[in-house]
Amino acid sequence: MTSVASVAPQSGSAAYPHLFTPLALRGITLRNRLVMAPMSTELGGLEGEVTPAMIAFYRERALGGMGLIVVEYTCVDPDTGRAHAYQLTLDDRRNLEGHRRLVSTIHEAGAKIFMQIQHGGQYANPKVLPGGMPVGPSDIFSKRDPLKMTCRGLTSDEAAAMVASFGNTAALAVEAGYDGVELHGAHGYLLTQFLSPLGNKRDDAWGGDAERRLAFPLAVIRAVRTALGDRPLVYRLSADEFRTGGLTIDDMETIAPRLVEAGVDALHVSTGWGVGPAFEKVVEPMSTQEGWRIPYAARLRRATGVPVIAVGQIRWPEMAEQAIADGDADLVALGRPMLTDPLWASKARAGRRDLIRPCTSCNWCISPHPGRVQVGCAENPRTGTELDPPILADTGRGRRAVVVGAGPGGASAALLLRQAGFETHIFETRAFTGGGIIASATPPGKNKLFWYSNYLGDRLAESTVIRHFDQRATLGDILALGPDVVFLAAGTQRIDLPIDGLDDPIVMDAYDLLMRERDLGLVEGDHAVVYGGGETGCETAEFCAHHGIRVTLVSRSPAEKLARSADWVYRMGLLRRLHDNPLITVADNAHVVAVSDGKVRLQSGDTMTEIAADRLLLAQGRRSADALFEDLTRAGIAVSVIGDNREVGRIGDAVHMAYRAVQALSAQFAPITGLAC
Ligand SMILES: Cc1cc2nc3c(=O)[nH]c(=O)nc-3n(C[C@H](O)[C@H](O)[C@H](O)COP(=O)(O)O)c2cc1C
Ligand code: SF4
Repeated sequence: MTSVASVAPQSGSAAYPHLFTPLALRGITLRNRLVMAPMSTELGGLEGEVTPAMIAFYRERALGGMGLIVVEYTCVDPDTGRAHAYQLTLDDRRNLEGHRRLVSTIHEAGAKIFMQIQHGGQYANPKVLPGGMPVGPSDIFSKRDPLKMTCRGLTSDEAAAMVASFGNTAALAVEAGYDGVELHGAHGYLLTQFLSPLGNKRDDAWGGDAERRLAFPLAVIRAVRTALGDRPLVYRLSADEFRTGGLTIDDMETIAPRLVEAGVDALHVSTGWGVGPAFEKVVEPMSTQEGWRIPYAARLRRATGVPVIAVGQIRWPEMAEQAIADGDADLVALGRPMLTDPLWASKARAGRRDLIRPCTSCNWCISPHPGRVQVGCAENPRTGTELDPPILADTGRGRRAVVVGAGPGGASAALLLRQAGFETHIFETRAFTGGGIIASATPPGKNKLFWYSNYLGDRLAESTVIRHFDQRATLGDILALGPDVVFLAAGTQRIDLPIDGLDDPIVMDAYDLLMRERDLGLVEGDHAVVYGGGETGCETAEFCAHHGIRVTLVSRSPAEKLARSADWVYRMGLLRRLHDNPLITVADNAHVVAVSDGKVRLQSGDTMTEIAADRLLLAQGRRSADALFEDLTRAGIAVSVIGDNREVGRIGDAVHMAYRAVQALSAQFAPITGLAC
């Protein structure tokens, strides 16, 4: 694990000179061009207050070298605009003290700090609003029940009062010491709802045509400008809403200069709409091309002449450097990479991009996790838990740990055990690190996952963990090492299915194919049957079609349940691609019952059909591997079973399990010190 100290910022950066050049913005100077994008952490308190956990979260990112921290969306009117129970609010002085502490902490860490101010409009959460009714530019009724109002249109006076609420929050932000404010005019919230023809159906001073739809955002900018005095104001907008009938980049090229005329100092160029399919343009899935939004920032930079912040799928310092060197952007914001690696900026500045823990855009961070509300990252279990006691370096000293399996759980456990001071051995049947990550990374559009398996491999290689690769761990091997503790992270094994003819030569385990341990052995135009409508089955179908193979994807469930456990943003794109791919046919509500002589027999209800196939790929899910646990326990060794070896899940689940297990072990072995009485 890399500490802040070990990549301490040097002055300037030979590797990325543009990225580490300061920038002056209306009276303040940012130490570099790196901005932490606003991200709702759900670390706030139920009264909308800043908490110590939140301060610790932002502090690590500021210490990590970012030039500017934009604090997550903060609601200007909690009675009507709050998005969730833990959202920050700042509408009077009651929450001011927490903000002051947050600001001074970030300043001490050398960064500047802006507050993003927001109102959810129609997307406020009725469950956390005292009146239970969101407000927006126009009345909205439920699609299912046309008599049920889901959002009440503001009266003209209320719209004017709402403008004042934005100004009030900006004034309080100044009082708290913030260096500036970012207006959240993107992603479909209140400011966007007034601006966009999709949200604003009024016919008065606040709407009716393009000019009047601008009235609310312009009034808010003026109010906030006045409140800010000589501090900078950034406006975050969606350069393209990516919705039919919504605002496009062409519209924004004429709108953005008007925002600037009204008092905006810089633009933060996001895209998309926070609810519905255009969400994949807000927080993109991993299949999206890196840096795809930079040209939007460049166009608005040219259209307005003010500094712009580029954001979205910028993962490596070279791309950030290039965007600035080419004059496409003045600043680069990192969202998810700040969850993955708070030290991103320091590592880049030190010319050590190889040490950056890579964000793969797996979107574990925006998926629900039972029992956890706060922000997290699949690869970085400390994210959102920065107040956790650190894993102490000497708790394992003089003790030996053995880890079986170098997938994400096993590799993370080995690195953490070493960090805790254990002499650590890791066994892996394959010659490389990654385990199940390889199968997940192989389908089209998922190669960013290889960044993570490579990262883990590199960290292991440079550590003093003793690697026994290309070697299946036997009980004898493990006992011979005399371990104090064993971590089993041996992954999964195939579930045998009640299918006649499973030994037929056309049968192959989809997992082996995706693990690159078997060749598909087909040529363009051949036909494969993929059995399994889960994420692996759908991805195997896409993988085959990508190689020109015709595919019948057989699912026991209805088609609308395909890939149901996949991250929902990624799933939207996956289902769309499956549907649009002429090489893929879905046979749902069907079972494969037999295979022989190049034919696969399907049963759907009482109907039997037979289809010719060159390959039958089984993707019916896998179960936890069950080797070694009992033997080791019987031998009296403490065993921790983690990752898919315990419960089949996503990469993040395995990594977090490893962290919790090592934390618990570390606490168990920690020396008892500091007894005061
Ligand atoms: C967990 C999470 C919370 C977010 N919350 C906000 C927010 O409060 N305000 C906002 O404007 N954008 C929010 N975003 C969007 C990010 O600021 C950023 O634009 C987006 O993640 C794309 O950038 P990235 O690819 O660097 O992550 C959020 C994104 C994530 C992942
Ligand atoms: S969970 Fe995945 S997408 Fe989210 S920050 Fe971590 S690596 Fe990136």
